[in-house]
Amino acid sequence: MEDRSLKICVAGTGYVGLTTGVCLAAIGHKVTCIDIDAKKVEMLRQGKSPIYEPGIEDLLRLAADRLTFTESFADCRSADVIVLAVGTPSTATGKADLSYIEAAAATVAENLGEGKLQVVVNKSTVPIGTAQRVKLIINQVLAGRGGPKSRFAIVSNPEFLREGVAVHDTLYPDRIVVGGDDVEAVNILRVMYTPILEQTFTAPNCCPRPEGFPLPALVTTDGTSAEMIKYAANAFLATKISFINEISGLCEKVGADVAEVARGIGLDKRIGPRFLQAGLGWGGSCFRKDTAALRSIGNEYGYAMPILEGTVSINGRQRMRVIEKLQESLKVVRGRTVGILGLAFKPNTDDLRDAPSVDITQALLEMGCRVKVYDPVAMDNFREHYAGLAVEYCATPLTLAENCDAVVLVTEWDEFFRLPLGEIASRMNGEKVLVDGRNILKPSQVQTAGLKYIGFGR
Ligand SMILES: NC(=O)c1ccc[n+]([C@@H]2O[C@H](COP(=O)([O-])OP(=O)(O)OC[C@H]3O[C@@H](n4cnc5c(N)ncnc54)[C@H](O)[C@@H]3O)[C@@H](O)[C@H]2O)c1
Repeated sequence: MEDRSLKICVAGTGYVGLTTGVCLAAIGHKVTCIDIDAKKVEMLRQGKSPIYEPGIEDLLRLAADRLTFTESFADCRSADVIVLAVGTPSTATGKADLSYIEAAAATVAENLGEGKLQVVVNKSTVPIGTAQRVKLIINQVLAGRGGPKSRFAIVSNPEFLREGVAVHDTLYPDRIVVGGDDVEAVNILRVMYTPILEQTFTAPNCCPRPEGFPLPALVTTDGTSAEMIKYAANAFLATKISFINEISGLCEKVGADVAEVARGIGLDKRIGPRFLQAGLGWGGSCFRKDTAALRSIGNEYGYAMPILEGTVSINGRQRMRVIEKLQESLKVVRGRTVGILGLAFKPNTDDLRDAPSVDITQALLEMGCRVKVYDPVAMDNFREHYAGLAVEYCATPLTLAENCDAVVLVTEWDEFFRLPLGEIASRMNGEKVLVDGRNILKPSQVQTAGLKYIGFGR
């Protein structure tokens, strides 16, 4: 059988780059993962993942002989495909900061080979026109190298994986989007993704193929549309959550249960049940920065985007609803002890970027509360990134509950679905309030345990 394995370099070994790199190696390609962070590279060489992401370390072992980790871009010389998966954080004005992409593109250009077509892939989430910008940077560097002997093409290939299930989403995606006008380059990406598109790889034990998994669609399109697809997808998902949160506030006023409302509307196939859980709202590395970047693109073109503005402001309001709910139930909040159950922005990750826990903790500390926190995996990250927040770290939900007037469930970790509510109640003080920021607990069970239940929109 013809060997269709490619030589691939991935720049950036964060949530996206590392997952992409190890999955591409697991399906048979030879992959060099490059990062400028020497500490990350060293950990990866030892088979340890610098991020908490289920399945990654299994795949590191499984595909070890097809994976290399390095700070050097030298392997780009012989690569068929070079994937840019570096960060694109927000600047102070909400624009995407392209400095990492531009730096990586320039280094790639210095290391391109000669002769065969090499495909440079924008996998990072980038504003409209970034493919063109990357092409310009590479051409400028090549011109400085004394003539364009290298042949390259830029392809936009946005990423849709979710942290916490990143390996699953990469091996079993809904669709793969490839945007670009160079037919040969698009075909090289088709070859790269063929084992996933046709599901011909052996499913790893850590991430079995879902039963009845339908083959994913390959969406080939122009580069600008591919760039827009990623922003539109995130904006839509964020809007769906903010929509149900807006409805949940009105449910509280009129006495309806938002969980019932979500079930009732979600059964309509045009609406669908997912992303309709009311609560503290969205967080994470992408939704805030991508909605900000999309609004900033709108601004550049003098185009108002009122739905997006509402989506963002409703999400901010949801976080502060926790404080209002504590004020309504405890009356005086200053001097109280409040426990935060869950720091990560969502379960199965240690990522704290734009996590609601940070805003809520900050607000409680400013109001003069004593704040205790517990998270099964994100506490080390919190210690490292929020050393200025004077919280007490607890080893279990039970030690967290000790002497708390209120506990706020912020992240829907699996273990929080089975909290020992009676024991928690017996360790708490005063009003014994439990704010269920994710609406995951049964109000009647919480009340029977001796706690005051406060949910969102129910
Ligand atoms: N995290 C997600 O869930 C997710 C999902 C879809 C898309 N995205 C997008 O993917 C991109 C990457 O996100 P992430 O969460 O993986 O970021 P991350 O911050 O976890 O990782 C970025 C990595 O790039 C490295 N890096 C920076 N400059 C470099 C350079 N010049 N050369 C090599 N490495 C360099 C950093 O050291 C870091 O390890 C972003 O544009 C993001 O919006 C993220």
